[in-house]
Amino acid sequence: MMKSPNDSAVTMTEIVLPQHTNALGTIFGGTVMSWIDIAGAISAGKHARCNVVTASIDALHFIAPIKLGHFVEIKACVNATGKTSMEVGVRVDSEHPHTGEKFHNVSAYLTFVAIGSDGKPQLIPSIEPKTDSEKRRFQAASMRRASRVKLAHELKQEELRIKP
Ligand SMILES: CC(C)(COP(=O)(O)OP(=O)(O)OC[C@H]1O[C@@H](n2cnc3c(N)ncnc32)[C@H](O)[C@@H]1OP(=O)(O)O)[C@@H](O)C(=O)NCCC(=O)NCCS
Repeated sequence: MMKSPNDSAVTMTEIVLPQHTNALGTIFGGTVMSWIDIAGAISAGKHARCNVVTASIDALHFIAPIKLGHFVEIKACVNATGKTSMEVGVRVDSEHPHTGEKFHNVSAYLTFVAIGSDGKPQLIPSIEPKTDSEKRRFQAASMRRASRVKLAHELKQEELRIKP
């Protein structure tokens, strides 16, 4: 069965409260990472329709700080699928509560794995990118996966080379 990235689209809204901030009055990185993981897991769960676990985070870029009192929008959708794993792209934007001025704060790419009732990775539906931006995100996700697999292979070879 094929699914569209739209089937896994998630938007979560939060507000930055004092308990979310660091000494500078901007959001603590771990808080926003937790929101990213939750939005990503919901998106992966909507695609796979079973339990999912976070396998890895390929990239997480803090582009601009998020300020106390600002509204935060966390958007996620599945960019690409493997057999049992899927890459979810997450974008975090914030908004000044009074002026409505918007900021792009974080972009992140996470891999989730679908887990069956036997506790093992389970096959998932494939994704079918249709629009130009879905195709671009699919292509970029494939490049990140290829680069992750290549790096893991090279590290393994290096480990074998230096082993006594
Ligand atoms: C993620 C996990 C299920 C993978 O298990 P595994 O036995 O290594 O699975 P496999 O080697 O059969 O790989 C299954 C899929 O996961 C992918 N995968 C495994 N480790 C990965 C990693 N570190 N990063 C990205 N993808 C990974 C594989 O590429 C494969 O994808 P595919 O089926 O689409 O080709 C396992 O490592 C695990 O349970 N990790 C802990 C997860 C966790 O606790 N997360 C935090 C709380 S949710």
